[in-house]
Amino acid sequence: MCGIFGYIGKKEAVPFILEGLKKLEYRGYDSAGIATLDNNKIFVSKRAGKIIELETFLKQRPISGEIGIGHTRWATHGQPSDSNSHPHEDCTGKIAVVHNGIIENYLELRRQLHEKGHKFSSTTDTEVLAHLIEDNYHGDLLKAVALALKFVRGSYALAVISEHAPDQIIVARSGSPLIVGFGDKEYFISSDIPAILKYTDEIIKLDNGEIAILTKNQIKVFTLDGSPVIKKKELISWDPQSAEKGGYSHFMLKEIHEQPSAIRKTIEGRIAAESHRIHFDELNLSDEEIRQVNRIVFTACGTSWHAALIGEYLFEQFARIPTEVEYAAEFRYRHPIIDKNTLVIAITQSGETADTLGAVWEAKAQNAKVISICNVVGSSIARESHGVVYTNAGPEIGVASTKAFTTQLTVLYLLAILFGKRRGLISDTESIKFINDLIELPGKVEDALYCEPAAEKIAECLSKATNALYLGRGKGFPIALEGALKLKEVSYIHAEGYPAAEMKHGPIALIDQHMPVVVLALAGRRYDKILGNIEEVKARGGIVIAVACVGNEEIKERVDEAIFIPKTSEALSPILAVIPLQLLAYYIAVKRGCHVDQPRNLAKSVTVE
Ligand code: AGP
Repeated sequence: MCGIFGYIGKKEAVPFILEGLKKLEYRGYDSAGIATLDNNKIFVSKRAGKIIELETFLKQRPISGEIGIGHTRWATHGQPSDSNSHPHEDCTGKIAVVHNGIIENYLELRRQLHEKGHKFSSTTDTEVLAHLIEDNYHGDLLKAVALALKFVRGSYALAVISEHAPDQIIVARSGSPLIVGFGDKEYFISSDIPAILKYTDEIIKLDNGEIAILTKNQIKVFTLDGSPVIKKKELISWDPQSAEKGGYSHFMLKEIHEQPSAIRKTIEGRIAAESHRIHFDELNLSDEEIRQVNRIVFTACGTSWHAALIGEYLFEQFARIPTEVEYAAEFRYRHPIIDKNTLVIAITQSGETADTLGAVWEAKAQNAKVISICNVVGSSIARESHGVVYTNAGPEIGVASTKAFTTQLTVLYLLAILFGKRRGLISDTESIKFINDLIELPGKVEDALYCEPAAEKIAECLSKATNALYLGRGKGFPIALEGALKLKEVSYIHAEGYPAAEMKHGPIALIDQHMPVVVLALAGRRYDKILGNIEEVKARGGIVIAVACVGNEEIKERVDEAIFIPKTSEALSPILAVIPLQLLAYYIAVKRGCHVDQPRNLAKSVTVE
């Protein structure tokens, strides 16, 4: 996704902006640029390619100024190129803008502006904003930006500087996140928190429909209609190091290893010590409302959608509530049959995924209660929901989601038990047993991480594969899907997750010695059936890598490689089973020389449809 970083203060802006843009690289991008205001003049430097290319260009042609805005672009409209990079300028070159989001009606606006004589130098939607502001400028930059945005349909996080107002930055947001950090007579603007943590832990988050004017001494926030808005500062507890790699080669490996502590943080403060009573402060659902729920619909994308599949099993198992899982992009456009007794649960790490946000809006429009399971406090989806449960996993920088996934599963487990309890289906004794299983879980995750050397060794031979199949039954099936997605997105090997029982209905035709098959051979009532699937693969010359429980010696005779995880309850086994698959994908990607934290074509948060 695009990233925005800006600075206004007493020091040179460019070094801050370059540092900030580098912290936003993980979002995925294909070009970068900076605009500064120096002696009331605008200077723009922008290049296709990585930030290092922009830095090299700036060494040859430096730009100065204590006010500046920068941008990393993830192309949505217009090929990656120098001219399509941001910042974009108006006809006069006196206004420069950077933008994250999509202007859905940009073609119509471009046509209207062209008819008025505006000349365009790019094929982007964003450049329309610069000319729209120029067209609405009548002496007040803030008003010009607010007026211009009234014509816009779509999503934006926007920063504007202008020679007409050489002492200020105007920022605005609708749909795409924008944060302002408070320094000492200086302000930082950013698309996300980790990029400014080095300078300040005091922030405000702009809400949809808000616009702000920043000078070196103050920030004022308004609605687009001009009404003043009082914003409460937030203190960010993340320390800068936690957003750094902490000694690991990649954020992804660091975040895999953070899972024990992340799950502890997810559980913390949510289970009363003696009674083991579960409570979520922000759930905002009364016991009566919980009892009235007659159907649950999960909606999410990607890895979060896999978590939702596990959620379906857990809610039907513990709370006996009919539950479905919908891809957010499908749900939002299919006129779903939901009503006030339907609980829609959105699952999202970033809280900014456009399709999931759209699904939340659709659910609310149909009078459903909406809660979200989210990792970013105050994110758009969290704020749009009636209630929210934060996973508290800390910043997840690697594009491939790992600790967000296992903390989502932890929240789903707690929520399902809470619902079962409130609906009188789980006794206190059972609840205490389930909670004790959960309290032991972080230690078992630590134990599961000891499979890292085995995963690294197996990665050696799998790294040359061109395809792979992941099989599971029951809750092992969503984990097979998740393991396949991890492999695809970081190593670019085509992989498919499949219900193991479905093998005989087609996929078994794929089996030969070139098709490694990863099988979730977890203890439980389906174990014998899984052994049968393993036999089917082996009988056709296939290679089988099994994820099995510690102590299961007999599996070693049946498969080519086995990775062992600690035993836990069947309901919590997915959280342990995914760990070797995360490590396998990571080491295969490293061995293939892939860009593990920023895989090609991917973004950490997909804030466009
Ligand atoms: C997961 O590894 C991917 N990065 C991607 O599928 C991600 O889960 C999806 O885009 C949803 O993101 P969200 O959880 O932030 O909504």
